[in-house]
Amino acid sequence: MDRSKADRVSNHLAGPRLYLDAVAADDGPAVAAWHRDGMFLRHLDAAPAAPPAAEALTAAWSTLKAAGGFPFAVRTQGEAPRLVGLVALDEILWAQRVGWIAMEIAPSEWGQGFGREALGLLLRFAFDEVNLRRLSLTVFAYNTRAIRLYEGMGFVREGSHREFLVRDGQPHDMLLYGLLEREWRATRHA
Ligand SMILES: CC(C)(COP(=O)(O)OP(=O)(O)OC[C@H]1O[C@@H](n2cnc3c(N)ncnc32)[C@H](O)[C@@H]1OP(=O)(O)O)[C@@H](O)C(=O)NCCC(=O)NCCS
Repeated sequence: MDRSKADRVSNHLAGPRLYLDAVAADDGPAVAAWHRDGMFLRHLDAAPAAPPAAEALTAAWSTLKAAGGFPFAVRTQGEAPRLVGLVALDEILWAQRVGWIAMEIAPSEWGQGFGREALGLLLRFAFDEVNLRRLSLTVFAYNTRAIRLYEGMGFVREGSHREFLVRDGQPHDMLLYGLLEREWRATRHA
């Protein structure tokens, strides 16, 4: 084996403060707790925003894995790791090497840069480990925090589904973003 090459392989699942871990059955209650926040739910999904049961949440993440996706629990580093969110790579079209991403950080943990670090780890997993070429995501036009995060990480706005959802009697667009592997590498090594 070429030792110099082997030495360049690093731990792609760990960042300075966070790491990507398996989702465990006993994560359900913590995830369910932050899924009781109506504002959070309205940013996450276009489905009617109502709190799901803990079992339904863990089942959904198991289904995602069974369908060939990669769900991760996002935990803090250190002696007493704390679950701060979930991220996933899913709906992978292997022939085209493209996939979709989804993410959520517990509202009590927002604004500390955890979203940025967790997304960075997920992008690294998608491009450096799974060897995908392109990632897509959708985000509601009122989700300014997520949009700032995605654009800051290099995602390019590619279009919108006009008036995709109605909340409080107001229509809102759903925006489509994409990131190519070469764009990610150019930013990363700039
Ligand atoms: C979107 C989400 C993952 C961001 O998590 P987070 O831990 O707060 O993210 P960060 O702390 O890394 O901040 C992300 C960016 O938002 C910016 N931001 C913070 N508060 C903001 C606000 N009120 N309005 C707009 N941007 C804001 C931060 O400055 C940061 O941008 P920067 O890195 O350019 O400074 C989190 O808010 C979340 O889970 N939201 C609910 C679920 C959701 O929206 N998921 C995505 C669906 S597409």
